[in-house]
Amino acid sequence: MAIQLFRPKFEVDECLEEIRECLEKGWTGLGFKTVEFENEWKKYTKLPFAYYLNSATIGLNMAVSILKDACGWVDGDEVITTPLTFVSTNHAIPKAGLKAVFADIDDTLCLSPESVESRISDKTRAVIFVGIGGNIGHYYEIVDICKKHDLRLILDAAHMSGSRWGGGSFRDRKRMR
Ligand SMILES: Cc1ncc(COP(=O)(O)O)c(C=O)c1O
Repeated sequence: MAIQLFRPKFEVDECLEEIRECLEKGWTGLGFKTVEFENEWKKYTKLPFAYYLNSATIGLNMAVSILKDACGWVDGDEVITTPLTFVSTNHAIPKAGLKAVFADIDDTLCLSPESVESRISDKTRAVIFVGIGGNIGHYYEIVDICKKHDLRLILDAAHMSGSRWGGGSFRDRKRMR
C-alpha cells in the first residue's frame, strides 16, 4: 500500500513558460536563467550568496567536503545527523571520510535538540539538519547548540526551499522571537 506523506505543489504553467523561453533561445545549459534564478533567490532569502547546482545531492557532497578541507577535519571526525531523511544526506558523510553519528528525531520529525546534544563528543565537527517535509522543527535550538559547542551546521533544505515561519523567512529569526 502506498502512503503519500507530502503533496508538493508546482506552478506548472509558470515553470513551462520559463523552460519554453530556454528552448526557444536554444540555451539549455548553465546560463542566463541560472543567473536570473540565483539573483531572485538572493532577494527572496536575503542571503548574500546563491549558487545553483544540478541536485541537492551534489550540494551536500560539496558542503561536507569543502568544510572538511577548510576547517582541517580529519578522517573519522564525526557529523551528527538524522535517521529520517533521503539517503543523500547521510551518504555525504562517509563519502568525505567522516563518521555519521545518528541522533533521534522528535515529534516534529526533525532532529531533537536534546538528542543532538547528548551525541556530541570531542570528535564532533558538524550537525546536518534536515527540514523534513518543509518543517523547520527545532532548527533554532540546533543553531544555538552548534554555536555553544563551536560546531558547523549544514542545512539540508531539499524539502524546505521557501519555507516560512512566523510570517517571515525562516532565516529571519528576529521576527520570530
Ligand atoms: C532530504 C533530502 N535531501 C537530499 C535529497 C537529494 O536531492 P536530489 O534528488 O536533488 O539530489 C533529497 C531527495 O529526495 C531529500 O529528500
